[in-house]
Amino acid sequence: MKAIVQDKYGPPDGLELRDIDKPVAKDDDVLVRVRAAGLHIGDCFSVRGAPFAMRLYSGLLKPKYGVPGYDVAGHVEAVGTDVKHFKPGDEVYGACNGTCAEYACAGQDKFAPKPDNLTFEEAAAMPTSALAALHALRDVGKLQPEQKVLINGASGGVGTFAVQIARSFGAEVAGVCSTRNVDMVRSIGADHVIDYTQEDFTQGGRRYDLIFDNVENRSLSECRRALTPGGTLILNSGTGAQGIAMLVRLAKPLVLSPFARQNLRRYLSVANRKDLVVLTKLVESGKLRPVIDKTYPLRETPAALGYIEQGHVQGKVVITV
Ligand SMILES: NC(=O)c1ccc[n+]([C@@H]2O[C@H](COP(=O)([O-])OP(=O)(O)OC[C@H]3O[C@@H](n4cnc5c(N)ncnc54)[C@H](OP(=O)(O)O)[C@@H]3O)[C@@H](O)[C@H]2O)c1
Repeated sequence: MKAIVQDKYGPPDGLELRDIDKPVAKDDDVLVRVRAAGLHIGDCFSVRGAPFAMRLYSGLLKPKYGVPGYDVAGHVEAVGTDVKHFKPGDEVYGACNGTCAEYACAGQDKFAPKPDNLTFEEAAAMPTSALAALHALRDVGKLQPEQKVLINGASGGVGTFAVQIARSFGAEVAGVCSTRNVDMVRSIGADHVIDYTQEDFTQGGRRYDLIFDNVENRSLSECRRALTPGGTLILNSGTGAQGIAMLVRLAKPLVLSPFARQNLRRYLSVANRKDLVVLTKLVESGKLRPVIDKTYPLRETPAALGYIEQGHVQGKVVITV
């Protein structure tokens, strides 16, 4: 099969389109004929092997998986003997390693039926980013109807889903983005849009029950000033710091949280079928829809990753296969 191959860690332009062996579905696995692969900043981290902590997952000295990409939509090509939920020909979407290829394979718990009203490109845009938004707002933030929530980085991959999911929970949503994204963030349901080139959300005197920060360009104390006394701050950025600075950034909220009245949280979103089905229901009821910035053909995966690394994606970037 054709795949984008990565022999060593480095910049995206070191990736090559090559022929490699097709994966084989073992007992619990689903082999998917990839129609589209969604990309996000985490794929750039895996390709570069940086931040270094990423290598605990992707391989210490060289990439464990050899093919980038983690989000997928396509047809089931084959299933292992223990698979009950899917059969060949089903249209699915989900999260598995090595999706920048003609075929990708993972356990059945990583897939769900593709929402009927989405294209393959739209469905592939969803898994990692939409699940990250769902897990933050529902599980970590325990967002309730009529609470005030602020999404920093509202125009990005996670943020565009977070705005819509928060609205679907009945919250009052403020989204922070740059001038060119104000109309888009309003169009996906934000009640208030804060243009960060004009206004600092930590300075305006407004207080939020929940701040979901996908950017982390403000200090903890500045963010806490914009929280209600019992509010929750969810920190969710892996960009902009390296080495010790990154460790300090990861550890600081954990260390400070027991001494603060407000909740300071980090979390790790893990893909699973049950929550993909929750997303499918939101999509099919018209409450959630991916915003796609650009699509690229498989051979242009390096350019797609380079674009994401610039840090100003409007929604999602998708590879068509
Ligand atoms: N916890 C988890 O399990 C998990 C899962 C997935 C992702 N993540 C993390 O989530 C973070 C966000 O990912 P993403 O895919 O949404 O990134 P992204 O698509 O690259 O979005 C970044 C967004 O940040 C905005 N931005 C840049 N500077 C800003 C500023 N000063 N103020 C407000 N917004 C600003 C940009 O909007 P403008 O163009 O308008 O500037 C852009 O749309 C990443 O750091 C990633 O590592 C965590």
